[in-house]
Amino acid sequence: MKEKLEALKSHAVEEITKINNLKELENIKIKYLGRKGELNTIKRGLKDVPAEERPSIGELANKTAEELEKNLEQKYEILYKESASRKLEAERIDITLPGDYIPYGKQHPLTATINEIVSIFNRIGFTLTEESNSPEVETEYYNFDALNFPSDHPAKDMQDTFYTVNAENLLLRSQTSNSQIREMEKKRPPLRIISPGRVYRSEAISSRKYNIFHQVEGLMADKGVTFGDLKGVLNEFTRQFFGQARPTRFRTSFFPFTEPSVEIDVQCIICSGKGCRTCSGTGWLEILGAGMIDPNVLRIVNIDPDVYSGFAFGVGVERLAMLKFAINDIRLFFNNDVRFLEQF
Ligand code: DAH
Repeated sequence: MKEKLEALKSHAVEEITKINNLKELENIKIKYLGRKGELNTIKRGLKDVPAEERPSIGELANKTAEELEKNLEQKYEILYKESASRKLEAERIDITLPGDYIPYGKQHPLTATINEIVSIFNRIGFTLTEESNSPEVETEYYNFDALNFPSDHPAKDMQDTFYTVNAENLLLRSQTSNSQIREMEKKRPPLRIISPGRVYRSEAISSRKYNIFHQVEGLMADKGVTFGDLKGVLNEFTRQFFGQARPTRFRTSFFPFTEPSVEIDVQCIICSGKGCRTCSGTGWLEILGAGMIDPNVLRIVNIDPDVYSGFAFGVGVERLAMLKFAINDIRLFFNNDVRFLEQF
């Protein structure tokens, strides 16, 4: 048994020197010192050893275990240090290297313009409608009929509006005014709401016209709202958006859902006089449509026009952005050329 123990020890020591990773070390440990390991197997023969030799053999077995334990521990230290330094080496960072350049994204000029319009109206007391009340895919009812458009109105023509092919009466909204109806159906005055969004028109594309553009719709309804309120609110808006020194002009106009209706112009911002390309020499630029909500529209959403009145408006976002940033082609907003976008 003494020979067996000595043989085991020299085998084990040899194997331990050959170990080169922690996993192997664990395996060797189990092989020799585990509960069912070789040492224990030998130890089980102790009962057959003559009684007087047992203490010294037992001691030898324990010593063997201790020595192997120690060997394994030393090996562990070495392997651990090696693997730690390998890991450190692999993760080495040269802090003297210059950093990578990560370009900042910029807000799209239309987003910036919408945000500015919305925040101005927020300050005047208007709040955003629920997004679900301003869908881009809309029925003919909300885009036209409920807004008092007669059934033969030319805007309802396929020439002007994109209809879907797979569902009757479904279209891509041609104006954000649908949100007025959806909000008023669900909420009662007093109302002061705004609703920005995308609209679609079947239009020949040019430097001034695009199939897709954006509007910010607004509406105020309460007892005793007058045209004076409309004028006050929209003049305050243009003052904040274009600055104090930019006069406005209210021109009579027509929309089916407002009566009376107006279009608001601001004085041309780049005017070079008679031949000015921006305003065609008129000195004025149209920026939004507005008017007092037609009693027919209020009736459609069950608001009594004898008790309540209100005004509504629709701002053309591209138009305002072009004026503010002196952009001469609407297509630039949609090409997503970074050389253009980086300028904002
Ligand atoms: N929806 C109109 C358009 O697209 C703009 C407009 C005019 C909106 C008058 C309004 C309004 O709310 O009262 O041309």
